[in-house]
Amino acid sequence: MCGIVGYIGNRDAYPIIMNGLKRLEYRGYDSAGIALYDGETIQLCKTKGKVVDLEASVEKEISKTGKLGIGHTRWATHGIPNDINSHPHFSNSGDLVIIHNGIIENYATIKKELINRGYIFNSDTDTEVLVNLIEDVKKKENVKLGKAVQIALNQVVGAYAIAIFDKKKPDEIIVAKLGSPLAIGIGDDEFFVASDASPFIEFTNNAIYLEDEEMAIIRKDRDIEIRKIKDDSIVAPYVQELQLNLEQIEKGGYDHFMLKEIFEQPSVIKDTYRGRLLADKGIIKLGGLEDYIEKFTNADRIIIVACGTSWHAGLVAEYIFEDWARIPVEVEYASEFRYRNPVITEKDVVIAISQSGETADTLAAIKLAKEKGAFVYGICNVVGSTISRATHSGTYTHAGPEIGVASTKAFTTQITVLTMIALKLARIKGTISQSDYMLHLRELDLIPENVAKALKKNKEIEEIAAVFKDATNFLYLGRGYNFPVALEGALKLKEISYIHAEGYPAAEMKHGPIALIDEQMPIVVIAVNSNHYEKVVSNIQEIKSRKGKIIAVVTEGDTVVREMADYIMEVPNTPETLSPLVTTIPLQLLSYHIALMLDRNVDQPRNLAKAVTVE
Ligand code: M6R
Repeated sequence: MCGIVGYIGNRDAYPIIMNGLKRLEYRGYDSAGIALYDGETIQLCKTKGKVVDLEASVEKEISKTGKLGIGHTRWATHGIPNDINSHPHFSNSGDLVIIHNGIIENYATIKKELINRGYIFNSDTDTEVLVNLIEDVKKKENVKLGKAVQIALNQVVGAYAIAIFDKKKPDEIIVAKLGSPLAIGIGDDEFFVASDASPFIEFTNNAIYLEDEEMAIIRKDRDIEIRKIKDDSIVAPYVQELQLNLEQIEKGGYDHFMLKEIFEQPSVIKDTYRGRLLADKGIIKLGGLEDYIEKFTNADRIIIVACGTSWHAGLVAEYIFEDWARIPVEVEYASEFRYRNPVITEKDVVIAISQSGETADTLAAIKLAKEKGAFVYGICNVVGSTISRATHSGTYTHAGPEIGVASTKAFTTQITVLTMIALKLARIKGTISQSDYMLHLRELDLIPENVAKALKKNKEIEEIAAVFKDATNFLYLGRGYNFPVALEGALKLKEISYIHAEGYPAAEMKHGPIALIDEQMPIVVIAVNSNHYEKVVSNIQEIKSRKGKIIAVVTEGDTVVREMADYIMEVPNTPETLSPLVTTIPLQLLSYHIALMLDRNVDQPRNLAKAVTVE
């Protein structure tokens, strides 16, 4: 959580930092701040609220001069969101200025020691402790800033991506990383620092992604020096050429990133399987999988670890893998798995799913599984992300940047990858017939078209949203492959509209949730063609008898549920196994429209951040 951005070079830093903060705001938006340095005076401005509030404060409070600058957009951990707790933070002498994404877990002990030695703290943050620790080391050891950072970071426990500069060194920024992401953009005689590459993509395609426990000393007009934090040894820089372009990180005419990302699904699902799925030839090619195929085919079981929406994609995978590949699957919340002392053996394959590739709990679950000898496979969207590097092998979803905090296209592209893996394994193991295999390949190839058809119902879904926008509770029900879709639909609604919503397997309703049903209660039921269709129809009857309001997701041409439901949202016919890829579309749109009608901040819902890099 939190976004950091920095610049050192020959341009004015202000517009680069400010635009960068706007692009990183999805990472946290409790407060924002900026420090600009022109070689004489450090201009500091910080404020509770969003980056636009910071922009307004800058106009009133500081001059925008300086060829060196750092900025921060905060998701509060230590200390409430207010002006004082906002970053950047000064050291006591006023010489050092820092921004930080992460948590210093032993900050309280360090703070106590520093207070005993006369340091004064203005904020409640762990970051102000860190900058003063660095200052203390620098003075005590009489070393340069880079060395002081290295020594100080060896004393802290926690996670960080930091950028820090010294008033006495206007040509230098020091950055360091452990657990939180940090990219360095390399231009001609200029350098950019950011939590991801979006703040500098229009200036350079060349970037270095720092590894954990690495720091970099960045000097204007000179090369970057990368060192290991542990022992100060030099690391050879690895410069990557980025594929990202500006268009991908802009709204492209849509009112919100979330809407853009929902409507991108036909094309990004295609991007996910492009070159990997050759439907006519009956071929699935997944480089990362082929090299380790025996790990999967010989596995005793597959354990899927993930959080939030990615966990829901994992639940869909449980159905597909067990159904087709006949491999037992367990789906675990990464946050529980990591602390549960789980039984893992070398015969287990662990699949970690993460859009951002930075989720702290998922990363910790991966480390644990690796320690216990399991083979770990990653499914990530963000290329070069920490999780993609921490796993033994993996597949990228190629969904392009997902900026809306509510995950949409990540879900459908993750399921697309998982479907390809399951089909490939099933074919190799001989647990699926050739005809079924070929049918599913062809049907998967039709999914982008079917998702596009589902999106055409947007207007009708908007009308349904208008009817239910003032409801205070929603139930979402689904069975089999569509049970995880019900969970995902409920999550989408609650996170962006703040309406309480619960997802349940439809048959579980009568074990408790049915007590909630009255004439005020909207119940979204996924009732598409499937093996459970009749059973879901019975569940709908049960709701009807209790006067609940039924909004049903049905297959085009359905007549039975249409008669019973108050409202229907149609999706094209697909095999049940692939149906989550289309049934999730109307639920995404329903949440979007309800949130919009309630005047919520759709892309940046309260209290949330896109990448949850703290546990
Ligand atoms: O980046 P990840 O896929 O690891 O993120 C996991 C969750 O934090 C994420 O899916 C979250 O639940 C979304 N806000 C849901 O829309």
